[in-house]
Amino acid sequence: MTVKVYKPSVDSSKNAWISDLDQYQKLYDESVNNPDEFWAGIAERITWTKKWEKVRSFDFIEGNIKYYEGGKLNVAYNCLDRHVEDGHGDQTALIWEGNNPAEDKRFTYNELKDEVSKFANVLKSNGIEKGDRVCLYMQMIPELTVAMLACARIGAVHSIVFGAFSSDSLRDRINDSACKALITQDTGVRGKKLNIPMKVKADKAVKETPSIEHVFVVKRTGEEVSMESGRDLWWHEEMAKASNDCPPQEMDAEDPLFILYTSGSTGKPKGVLHTTGGYLVYAAYTHELVFDYHEGDIYWCTADIGWITGHSYIVYGPLANRATTVMFEGVPNSPDFGRFWEIVDKHNINIFYTAPTALRALMREGDDWVLKHGLSSLRLLGTVGEPIKEPEWNWYYNIVGKGKCQIVDTWWQTETGGIMITPLPGATPIKPGSATFPFFGIEPVLLTEEGKEIEGNGVSGLLAIKAAWPGIMRTLYGDHERFKQTYFAMYPGYYFTGDGARRDEDGYYWITGRVDDVLNVSGHRIGTAEVEGAIGKAEGVAEAAVVGFPHDIKGQGIYAYVTLMADVEPSEDIQKAILKSVTNDIGPHSKPDKIQFTSALPKTRSGKIMRRILRKIAENEIDSLGDISTLADPSVVDALVQNRK
Ligand code: PRX
Repeated sequence: MTVKVYKPSVDSSKNAWISDLDQYQKLYDESVNNPDEFWAGIAERITWTKKWEKVRSFDFIEGNIKYYEGGKLNVAYNCLDRHVEDGHGDQTALIWEGNNPAEDKRFTYNELKDEVSKFANVLKSNGIEKGDRVCLYMQMIPELTVAMLACARIGAVHSIVFGAFSSDSLRDRINDSACKALITQDTGVRGKKLNIPMKVKADKAVKETPSIEHVFVVKRTGEEVSMESGRDLWWHEEMAKASNDCPPQEMDAEDPLFILYTSGSTGKPKGVLHTTGGYLVYAAYTHELVFDYHEGDIYWCTADIGWITGHSYIVYGPLANRATTVMFEGVPNSPDFGRFWEIVDKHNINIFYTAPTALRALMREGDDWVLKHGLSSLRLLGTVGEPIKEPEWNWYYNIVGKGKCQIVDTWWQTETGGIMITPLPGATPIKPGSATFPFFGIEPVLLTEEGKEIEGNGVSGLLAIKAAWPGIMRTLYGDHERFKQTYFAMYPGYYFTGDGARRDEDGYYWITGRVDDVLNVSGHRIGTAEVEGAIGKAEGVAEAAVVGFPHDIKGQGIYAYVTLMADVEPSEDIQKAILKSVTNDIGPHSKPDKIQFTSALPKTRSGKIMRRILRKIAENEIDSLGDISTLADPSVVDALVQNRK
């Protein structure tokens, strides 16, 4: 099959930071051959109060990774103060677009610095100190950005929990890292949902989180919520009392910046920990090069800050680069399917970064929603989170980008801190669906199941990374052993990504998806074990096995096979109870799309569920089930196939 290659336009190359493949190759070679020198040079973009002593050291066996050791800096200072000091205080830092199209707000760098300093003082006066963990459970409101940077300013470690997570998930995340404070809002608005009970959910969680001393509550909607005297404090009341003078806390390059929980192959979410210096250098550098960010560009990443994309590419990367960054509270289909494009025109967005799932959902509503809007400001389009397939790629390129915007398909993970495999606009000829080539300093390899490197092109394997880079996570909070086991033990000497990939004849990387028990539903990472655990809590359920299946909009949908207790019959009620249990345990984004009741699951003689078979059935690939002779009872398969949903 020949793949059409899209070369960068002359115009896009002319002004780009990296303007052709030769320049990319030269710099790439430098970055991997002389990493110390390379990363020392790149770190100059950050303001350090004390220069580092050692650029990098890493040991992938013990999972010990350090960048810019001995260096001192403050992330909030780098994202705000230094721009103000350089005379750019009046530049717009943040444009907030509300769920309701009539609502928006702008913050200059001066204003954002003041807000952040004030809230930093609020935290301090309420006993939060350097190293304390603070949980943020909010929708996409400006106070979320303010709170993150306020934590960074005083050296507190933020742990953001995506606003759709349930109380139980919130409770577990707070407890895992013993957060001292929680920041939330009264209620939230998102699309047609105008009353998301954030405080109510937070209250339920906090009943079982002994470490929480204070709950700060932003008044977003004015809905009445109960406030527990002594514990709960209104954001606006505290802010009114606070001074805007809060000197940034000097932090070590390897001091923690934040924890972000993500799903893995077991039921317990992992607290991915990122540190200060390396993370900021990597987020800022990738943001500038991958999005070819130039002064004056208006940049919008549609992700939720509750995920890593929002951390690195709404807040830290863009603000460190003195960008104007846009934050959107709503959803792409409300009030109508033209909402994204209306915002692009309203704010003259030049660079737009979104997920394939959003593109698929919008594409099927027809082109008119896009064509109604001029979109003449757009210069560059990006995608992240899951493989982008040809139909939505073509639609993005031709209808949204009018054939004049490069698309950067960026592959990376919560754990990597920043973009790892990606085109560089202006330099990289694009093959739709391929994330193309490694970013500077990144050495991807493909491994066999046995851990042998697969050389050459035109090959597929397990995607691993050979050496450390500044943005790599440093540990799993409170569980360094699990960190070592999950990422380094299986293939010693490499960071294992959990993804499979193909390197084509021209050396382009094509990500083929997860090879572990992690699903990617609408770009959200969901552990099958977590969903199985949640289903198992529904009354009447004996056992559940969850796999993914191809879904037109979500990319992957969730397919649950459920066995019930001997005396329980499948029913609407049980189905409802299962969905409710998942919503309560994790959140509505993890609800199964299909539930198949079965009297038995396919198990080996040792009792292990053969997921390979379940996956094939869910994917409707029943002709290629493979060897089923090792099953304890092969006849189970027939029943499963017959009752397929
Ligand atoms: O499977 C890959 C997929 O998303 C996973 C990481 O998920 P998460 O940590 O939630 O971070 C998502 C946003 C950075 C990866 O292991 N993934 C991410 N980007 C791409 C992708 N799959 C294919 N193409 C991509 N561009």
